[in-house]
Parts: sequence; C-alpha cells; structure tokens
Amino acid sequence: MANQDELFKKITSHCKEYGFIFQSSEIYDGLSATYDYGPYGVILKNNIKQYWWKSMVQMHENIVGIDAAIFMHPTTWKASGHVDAFNDPMVDNKDSKKRYRADVLIENYRDKIEAKINKEITKAKKRFGDAFDEEQFRATNPRVLANAEKMENISKRLATAMTHGDMEDLKAQIEEYGIACPDSGSKNWTEVRQFNLMFSTQLGAIAGEAGKLYLRPETAQGIFVNFLNVQKTTRQKLPFGIAQIGKAFRNEIVARQFIFRMREFEQMEMQFFVKPGEQKKWYEYWKDVRLKWHQALHNSENLRYHDHDNLAHYADAAVDIEFNFPFGFKELEGIHSRTDFDLSSHEKHSGKKLQYFDPEMNDNYVPYVVETSIGCDRMFLATISHAYTEEMVPDAKGGEAQRIVLKLNPALAPIKCAVLPLLKNKPELTEKARTIFNHLKMHFDCQYDEKDAIGRRYRRQDAIGTPYCITVDFDTLEDDTVTIRERDSLQQERISIDKIAEIVKKRTDITQLFV
Ligand code: GAP
Repeated sequence: MANQDELFKKITSHCKEYGFIFQSSEIYDGLSATYDYGPYGVILKNNIKQYWWKSMVQMHENIVGIDAAIFMHPTTWKASGHVDAFNDPMVDNKDSKKRYRADVLIENYRDKIEAKINKEITKAKKRFGDAFDEEQFRATNPRVLANAEKMENISKRLATAMTHGDMEDLKAQIEEYGIACPDSGSKNWTEVRQFNLMFSTQLGAIAGEAGKLYLRPETAQGIFVNFLNVQKTTRQKLPFGIAQIGKAFRNEIVARQFIFRMREFEQMEMQFFVKPGEQKKWYEYWKDVRLKWHQALHNSENLRYHDHDNLAHYADAAVDIEFNFPFGFKELEGIHSRTDFDLSSHEKHSGKKLQYFDPEMNDNYVPYVVETSIGCDRMFLATISHAYTEEMVPDAKGGEAQRIVLKLNPALAPIKCAVLPLLKNKPELTEKARTIFNHLKMHFDCQYDEKDAIGRRYRRQDAIGTPYCITVDFDTLEDDTVTIRERDSLQQERISIDKIAEIVKKRTDITQLFV
C-alpha cells in the first residue's frame, strides 16, 4: 500500500508539473476539492468526452444528445427526490474536529479486513508456489473464512442502515467496531446526522425560499424534463436514449483523493427509455456494452462489476463498474435501472403528461429508464493512472536511463505528434521542420519543439504521452524523409514527409476504440 500511496502522489505531482491539472485558485491557497484542467489536461479530457460521445451518440442511431442548463426549476429537485433523500450520513470527531462520512468509515474498516485476507493469500502463495490453489484456499482456510464472514456481516448491516436511513445504527456500528478517527486516533464521535449534498443559490429578484435554486447534483434530470421535447422532435421510437455531458455539483462531506471526489465535476450520462417490463434486458445489455467500452482502453483485470448493496431511492437494480485506482478498486461508472420513478414523479409535480404513445400497442405509458453514468474526471484519473509508467530505456551513451512515460492510448493522447528539428541553430532544419508542423497541425494536435538536446525533447514528449515524434535531420533536406519514433517501443522508422499525416492519423484514430 505504501508503494501505491507513493505512486498516487507521483501521479498527482506529474499532473501539475506537466500542465494536466492544477489546484483551483492556487494563488489563494486553493479551494478544496475543486481543480482546473491545464493545457494538456483539457485536451485529454476533451478526447475522453469525444470517445464517450461518439461511442454513445454517433455509433447508436437510437441515441441523441442534448446540453441542458445547470439551473433548473426548483421543483425538479423535489420531484427527483434530491431535496428529501440526497443525503450522506455525516459524523464529526469531537477531538480532531474532522468531519467524515459514517458509511465510508465503516467501509474502510471492512477494507482493512479484506487487506488481511489478501495478506494471508499472498503468504500462502509464496509458501505453496505453483501448487497454490487460491479458490480452494479461500474456501477452506479458517482465518480467511472467518474474515470473509465478518466482511459480509459488515456489508449487510451497513446496507440495511443506509437503505433505512438508520443513523443510530451507523453510530452503533462505529462504536462496536472500535473505529478511530484516522487523523487523531480518537474514538470520541458526535451523533451521525443526515447531510444534504446539494449546493443552493438564490435567484436575483426573488427573496426567500421561492427564489432558491440548486446547482444540479446530476445531469440526468435535464434529460428527464426534456424527454417529450426530444422524443417529439426526433420522432424516436422506444427503445431510445438521450445522452448529455455536463457539470454537476455536490457538497461532498469528505472530498479527497485528488479528482476522484470533487465538489464540482463533470458527468457523461445516458438515459435509455424502454418499454416497461424490458428494463432487465436493457440493464444487462448496457452493463455489457459499458464494460467493453472500458476494456477497449484498460486491462480487464483492472475492471470489475460491483452490485450495489443499498439502492438509491430511484433504482430497482444498480451496479458499479469499478476501476483499480492506485488506492484500490473504486466506482468509476454506475449503471442503474431507474424504473419509471423520475418521469412519473415529474408528471405528478408538473401536472404534464410525460408518456410515450406506443403505435404497436395503441396505448400510452410512462417508459422505464436504464441509465449509464460516468464521471469524466474519474475517467481521466483512471486513464492517467493506468498510463503513468516509470521504466529503464537505453540511453545515447549505450547505457540505461529512467524515463517517465504516459502510455496513453494514442487516440486519447493530447498531442498526437511532435516535430523536432535535430538542431536548433541550423535554419535549414528549423524552416523545414516548421513547414512540416504547419501542415500537420491542420490534421491533429501537434507540437513544434526545437529547445534542448533531442533526447531531452523526447523525454518531454514521453512525459505528456505523445505517441509519435518526427525528427527532421540533414537527410530530410536531401530526400524529403523523416524519422518517426514510436513512444512505447522506441522504434524508429524512416518515412517520407507526404506520408506523415496519413500514418499518424491512422494510428491515432479514435474509431479503433469502437467496439
Ligand atoms: N445520475 C446518476 C448518478 O449521478 P452517481 O453514482 O451518483 O449516479 C455517477 O454518479 C458517476 O459520477 C459516478 O460513478 C462517478 O464517476 C461520478 N461522480 C459522482 N460523484 C462524484 C464526485 N464527487 N466527484 C467526481 N465524480 C463523481
């Protein structure tokens, strides 16, 4: 774990050093859990959004996009259940004055038991070598069995307390498990209270409750309230989906782990409207499609499903796709079967019908909804954590040197290609390189760099994940060829100038990710 903590620290400082992510308002010592994306960060984030948007909207005839406003009529949030039920259980430590989410304290306690199981397994693996059968060990080792049972009991009791909003039992669990404040070690806790996560603000001209507005805590409601507008204008038939990318805001009690949990973040959500009774089928379909979307980028062993133990107020089934972040497996995306909860509730609160006329059944009904919801910032963190690599490579003197390289999928890399004249002080080389760069920049994000020795320039491009470097040397002036260096294999090929755009475009094209 110490190594993983170390790795996570390195990734966060790499993000800052190379202009991917900055603390928001840093000159004023920052604002907690809010971040700004820098020059490379914004391109990488846009590429992630593009991969999502194209896979969901462009690749599905029956999915269309919208971009709804962040502010919505306040009744929206009454209807959606967020005013009454979008709470997290909060607890303070009286000695350290630190505030925590009660459920997270309990989950962390459970994770420690899981770590004990994993330690036991690692030890046994070493002892038994190739003959080790993990499945059998898990099923028979008494210590593993006892800890697995403990974990299951903790999960079940936590889920029951969360589903019923039983704050007293959450407090009882913290006391029974002897959970101490991670900061001070003190067990002197306040009562557990519900804390609503929505930020509110005030509409200019109207004072008091009537003018109270919320910053949307999810983008989904902008889709629900536009269901009929979209269905009528696009003449979509069920099943069909509406997709949206946009900001969401949550007053998270504890916002740590860099961009994993932020107070202002971005979601990429898709609501898929289906005939009542067909939601289970579509839920399974989207679980599968979304996992494949992630697998196109990340090794399968870093991804897993996790069924929700306690369901949100709107869902009849829910699963997370978890990613193996440097701090362990955590939620990256949620797939939720939301029933007809939202549309029905908006019907009730607005007095407007939000129904679909089914020509085959010759009847009107409120569709059911299966949603896929992924945090863009979390996807960014997963992508950059997966890409960050420290490795030894041959150096110019025949020895070895360490390099830091972002092994980003070329389709997501912020800069696709860098053009480097071999020497800075040779105008014939720099002019030629500039001409090549001016042509390439029309096709993709491209960079020109002439400062420092060529080796250092390669390292700079490696550190931001540029998949291809083009070197312009004296042979280029003779035969119009350049060297193209591939980031991961370090292989160099000689190609003609008029082929660069075609080759780089082909190898960095986003369509290769589509499944
Ligand atoms: N419309 C459903 C919904 O909002 P959610 O599980 O609360 O469901 C969906 O959020 C996704 O949004 C999460 O899987 C996560 O990737 C992202 N997300 C949620 N809260 C976040 C936060 N505070 N910071 C960054 N991303 C967050």
